[in-house]
Amino acid sequence: PIAERPRITVVGVGYLGATHAVCMAALGFDVLGVDVDERKVAELAAGRVPFFEPGLQAKLSEMLATGRLAFTTEFDEAARFGDVHFVCVGTPQAGDSDAADLAFVDQAFEALASRIDRRALLVGKSTVPIGTAERLTRMVRERSPIGDRLELAWNPEFLREGFAVEDTLHPDRLVFGVASEWAERQLRAVYAPILAQGTPLVVADLPTAELVKVAANSFLATKISYINAMAEVCEATGADVDLLAAALSHDARIGGRFLKPGLGFGGGCLPKDIRAFAHRAEELGVGEAVAFLHQVDDINTRRRLRMVDLVRELAGGDLDGARIAALGAAFKPDSDDVRDAPALDVARMLSLEGAHVVVYDPEANANAHRAYPDLDYVDSLAEAVTDADVVALLTEWREFGEADPEALGELVGRRRIVDGRHALDADAYRGAGWEFRALGRPA
Ligand code: UGA
Repeated sequence: PIAERPRITVVGVGYLGATHAVCMAALGFDVLGVDVDERKVAELAAGRVPFFEPGLQAKLSEMLATGRLAFTTEFDEAARFGDVHFVCVGTPQAGDSDAADLAFVDQAFEALASRIDRRALLVGKSTVPIGTAERLTRMVRERSPIGDRLELAWNPEFLREGFAVEDTLHPDRLVFGVASEWAERQLRAVYAPILAQGTPLVVADLPTAELVKVAANSFLATKISYINAMAEVCEATGADVDLLAAALSHDARIGGRFLKPGLGFGGGCLPKDIRAFAHRAEELGVGEAVAFLHQVDDINTRRRLRMVDLVRELAGGDLDGARIAALGAAFKPDSDDVRDAPALDVARMLSLEGAHVVVYDPEANANAHRAYPDLDYVDSLAEAVTDADVVALLTEWREFGEADPEALGELVGRRRIVDGRHALDADAYRGAGWEFRALGRPA
């Protein structure tokens, strides 16, 4: 059996993997991060996190200095080094369908399986369609020179962008999907410091572990779309969705988290995960059970359209030639991630209707520019709002919430604002002479 303190490799050092590698080193393990992307490996090895994540940069430098953390592009080295190999590669939405693209996952498991020649554990962390782990188990056995002495486990990850380090070191729970007691023992050894904090652990079979992840993300997406569906009803009745959410949240059975109405969910996880889950359920013959996820997705998309409607309304019914300040591009604050970002999608739609859209995001401008080069990007809030006909708040960065309505009012062409994230004090804005609108709230 493997030593008390297994050596760890992390394959795929994108968002999840880089965080996991750094945090495992912080827990005292020797860690090797592996990626086929030479640039990423070079950046991390030089102590630079190639994306924005609060706290990660400092921890990376600290861990490199201990000598416990290194990065490589060589799978041979990884196979020799590790006792427990975490696979953290991406599972993006496949180009032409709702299904997840498993090419990176398959490649990573194949690359390890064909090279590892002593007892070891392969642990999937990526979000995958149910049944993937069992399929990979068969594949790994076929490819491995040591047959079933190379085992496979699934250990879903629940970290949030913006809180990645905190969520990894202090998770709400751990889930181990295992097929043997030996595999469970290895995972318990890796997570011993976290389990010692009293973190709840669920030990499950492989398909359950895979399902936990998509079920959790689907629940969160559903909760957001639920309150956003109520916002639609509010708009038709003159009711106020913020007051509604506040009242609902006092019921402990409902709870207030993920009940914030607004432009809805985006990012690299929730949207693609609910689509891939619905798609997989259909393949499994239980599509009906999660057919509601299509509605969750539709409600989410409709918020973006409604946001465009409100901006158009404030612009006087026509966006052609209007100057619109788009505040935010990232899919949420404290992130530079613009994958499936509601903010950027709204900015794009406004621009398609002929508006001159000026975008400012404190961290995501560069990524946004790469995704939509046609929009105008500026480096400050002041520049963005200068001479604006309508201001559209699309991502609730703290900077926007703290802005002074009077000072902003001095800069804009007209004092009109749509709060797409329920992040602003409506009374303060109205008090300063702004025409103020918010999704799901009375005019
Ligand atoms: C999400 C999950 O929260 C994590 O648990 C999970 O590990 C991760 O996906 C993943 O699968 O990797 P993340 O995508 O980082 O994390 O972001 P969230 O904080 O969940 O926010 C998702 C979206 O929902 C954002 O666009 C946010 O603006 C929106 N949202 C969130 C709302 O519109 N209302 C809310 O009340 C909460």
